[in-house]
Amino acid sequence: MPKPLKKAVLPVAGLGTRFLPATKALAKEMLPVVDKPLIQYAVEEARAAGIEQFCFVTGRGKTALVEHFDVAYELEATLRERSKTEALALLATTSMPPGSVMSVRQQVPLGLGHAIWCARAFVGDDPFAILLPDDLVLADVSWVKQLAEVYEQTGGNVVAVEEVPREHTSRYGILKVGHDDGRLVEVTGLVEKPKPEEAPSTLSIIGRYILLPEVIGELARFERGAGGEIQLTDAMARLIGRQPFHGLRCEGRRFDCGDKAGFLEAQIAFALKRPDLADKVRAFLGRYV
Ligand code: UTP
Repeated sequence: MPKPLKKAVLPVAGLGTRFLPATKALAKEMLPVVDKPLIQYAVEEARAAGIEQFCFVTGRGKTALVEHFDVAYELEATLRERSKTEALALLATTSMPPGSVMSVRQQVPLGLGHAIWCARAFVGDDPFAILLPDDLVLADVSWVKQLAEVYEQTGGNVVAVEEVPREHTSRYGILKVGHDDGRLVEVTGLVEKPKPEEAPSTLSIIGRYILLPEVIGELARFERGAGGEIQLTDAMARLIGRQPFHGLRCEGRRFDCGDKAGFLEAQIAFALKRPDLADKVRAFLGRYV
């Protein structure tokens, strides 16, 4: 029986340069899709998979991310006084059990791998999930839950994967693929941001991972990879062959909300799923397309 999966690390210390000037004073992960910030979608997805402990890896100007899950005492009191029950119910969706959220600081954004290493005390000897909140998922079953089921069967590392156009491989961590049953893929190698002509496949890692704690030791070598950054992919690659390693094509859709077009598409897709908005959105979309 593999150790139960109860922890998640959410790295949110990136600079968010693609969303400047919006992200000058506001964390990218606080940008809302319809009416909920990206960070809350990620936390809800993890909780739906039974995750109980959260560690945000934050940086300068990111305190709102932690505050979002705190009690807003004055606001709650005012809403209660005014009998705003609907607003109170919305506020309640951000409530977390005491002690379940912690944050660590990545003072300088040296890369995703370095951000994960910053959470080493939180991870300890336990398996953990990683969620990059700017990958937003629309699915019937939480992607972390889908990955957790594979982890329970294999006891090893598992990442969400998706086919990308070959001309985009240099934006992603790309898999070298062993056995592939169309859903679950055996990972035999990993390359971060390969040129299209050098990519071993077009199957790329999406921002959901379940990893064994040994990856932290590999990250502690502080080796610089693509873009001069300490890359998580490189540390994971060194574990292949020593631990089970799989990719899972999860069921559902992923939106790259770190990118403007992906973010706008997510707004439309999520709004069309909302009974209070779908008709209005469909009606106005017709005026533009
Ligand atoms: P991105 O590659 O999207 O970088 O990071 P970014 O800085 O957030 O955005 P752009 O490209 O400048 O617009 C992927 C994830 O890794 C985190 C980010 O917060 C994001 O969740 N990250 C990246 C860190 O926490 N620390 C880093 O040093 C780098």
